[in-house]
Amino acid sequence: LVLILDFGSQYTHLITRRIRALSVFSLCISGTSPLSSITSLNPKVVILSGGPHSVHSNDSPSFADGFVDWAQSNGVFVLGICYGLQLLVQRLGGEVRVGEKQEYGRMDIEVEKNCGIFGGKKVGDKQVVWMSHGDETARLPDGFEVVARSQQGAVAAVEDRDRKFYGLQYHPESEGTPGSVNQTFRVAAHSMLALGRAWETALSGDNTFGCWGLVTHSPEGMETLRYFLFDVCGVNAGWKMEDVMDEEIEVINNTVAPDDHVICALSGGVDSTVAATLVHKAIGDRLHCVFVDNGLLRYKERERVMETFDRDLHLPVTCVDASEQFLSKLKGVVDPEMKRKIIGKEFICIFDAFAHELEQKLGKKPAFLVQGTLYPDVIESCPPPGSGRTHSHTIKSHHNVGGLPKDMKLKLIEPLKLLFKDEVRQLGRILKVPEPFLKRHPFPGPGLAVRVLGDVTEGNALDIVRLVDEIFIQSIKDAGIYDSIWQAFAVFLPVKSVGVQGDQRTHSYVVTLRAVTSQDGMTADWVEEEFGAWGEVVEGEIYNTAPDDSSVLSPTLATLLNGSPPCPNQGELPISTSYSTVYCFENSFLKEVSQKICNNVRGVNRVTLDITSKPPSTIEWE
Ligand code: XMP
Repeated sequence: LVLILDFGSQYTHLITRRIRALSVFSLCISGTSPLSSITSLNPKVVILSGGPHSVHSNDSPSFADGFVDWAQSNGVFVLGICYGLQLLVQRLGGEVRVGEKQEYGRMDIEVEKNCGIFGGKKVGDKQVVWMSHGDETARLPDGFEVVARSQQGAVAAVEDRDRKFYGLQYHPESEGTPGSVNQTFRVAAHSMLALGRAWETALSGDNTFGCWGLVTHSPEGMETLRYFLFDVCGVNAGWKMEDVMDEEIEVINNTVAPDDHVICALSGGVDSTVAATLVHKAIGDRLHCVFVDNGLLRYKERERVMETFDRDLHLPVTCVDASEQFLSKLKGVVDPEMKRKIIGKEFICIFDAFAHELEQKLGKKPAFLVQGTLYPDVIESCPPPGSGRTHSHTIKSHHNVGGLPKDMKLKLIEPLKLLFKDEVRQLGRILKVPEPFLKRHPFPGPGLAVRVLGDVTEGNALDIVRLVDEIFIQSIKDAGIYDSIWQAFAVFLPVKSVGVQGDQRTHSYVVTLRAVTSQDGMTADWVEEEFGAWGEVVEGEIYNTAPDDSSVLSPTLATLLNGSPPCPNQGELPISTSYSTVYCFENSFLKEVSQKICNNVRGVNRVTLDITSKPPSTIEWE
């Protein structure tokens, strides 16, 4: 296990993901956790994350007393990253001071001494890294040596090989393409102008960049992490989703007694479905699933998901129609948090009633409830104190974390709570959950209640948003871009505007369309009219390295790139894996969707598009 102690960096979870991508299991806990929480996990490597603090401030978070001695006496490798490095230096008796020159952004560092952490790198070798720090190491603790410095002379990497302590002042986890070629760039352009600018930047020497925010920050960061874990620490890369499945099944079997029964609330989403399928594999038909129609579901959702549960997954599912119960409780409620609380409470009532009915039938009350809680929910439910990172449940009380009433009589089984979304999909594939189901966009627990702003029971708001959503999603599927989008949906705005339809003035509702790309829902970009291609600059000339399948290119870009010669070393570039993130909303697509909505959905005369990223917005509107 590689354990990450989180000191509040926005990107701590990225370190966890990067390490898992190397097939090594990693977990992330608060940096201020007691020593017993760390030792009980028995990690081989502990990584101290970055964070927004200065080690000099009074409330700066730190690891537990005794951590260093424990690590040393147990031969545990410790790697401090940025703030984590400074913390290690300070706690071991070195000195950290406010840097003479602050370092933010891409920076060259140079290897100074033969070292462990950079492996095959030789003295004098340079690499570009992503720096983001104001403080710097002024004096190292005994036993440490500087092995790399930045171009400004600041300490960039340190190590004390005897004690197995290492530190990087930069962020190796910072978004990067493993093995990216120095002279490779990615062009994303929606106009000649943007394309021109992209070329200009590429030709001016800053050749590694991305227009989707995929800046290659520390291009060799992944390689450094890989070398550190495998060669320096001797970690084994054996973490596989098949093993996760087997381990979870074992845990479930050890938790649930042979005569215990379990209930599961299926939402129709990927998480609860994969969780239920996994539990079903473990305990068979002692699992009893319930699907609640709360009146806040998407178009024909009930029919569609019930068919999949039955036909494809053979899950035992009872469908409860509770729409009237939910909608009557929601009547007149406009506060989003209140809506969530009401919905959460009603859900629990229904589970309890369902459990009660089962008790009558089985002569024994089910003891457990399965939930599809994911790792980001868990991480964000307890950020380290003083991290400045917001508790997600204070933004929105996601009812699958922390929203359960204290007197709930069912114990929880959360078999996915250590997995990220993409890992859940991998697990689902192994469990033979149909691919289109696994690729469904996430849908929030409170359903359309957070997509109808204000009172959900007002007029025919729910019917309107359902139909608009269906048209939008179907159009996205028809355009072949559904899988490239994290989440797309429609939102009903309780706003009327004047329009003219069929020679008549109308005073009808406004809807908005939202589509975002994201890695894990924590941050997101809105889907623009963007096109991607790969190119390479060789001695000032631009070459087209796009794959032959030029259908992925916009007409503009295809024309432009068609004129450029094929790249001399095209075969060596990792293009095939990298160009797949091409997605787009062309103007003609948006125009067609807007027309379809206004022509088919009574009560709507205006369609708008949400063009905000997260942050500053959230993905959902409420
Ligand atoms: P936000 O809107 O917070 O959403 O940017 C991030 C992701 O979480 C989903 N979401 C929810 N899921 N209960 C859920 O189960 C909720 O109350 C909830 N609110 C948002 C959202 O759809 C997105 O994928």
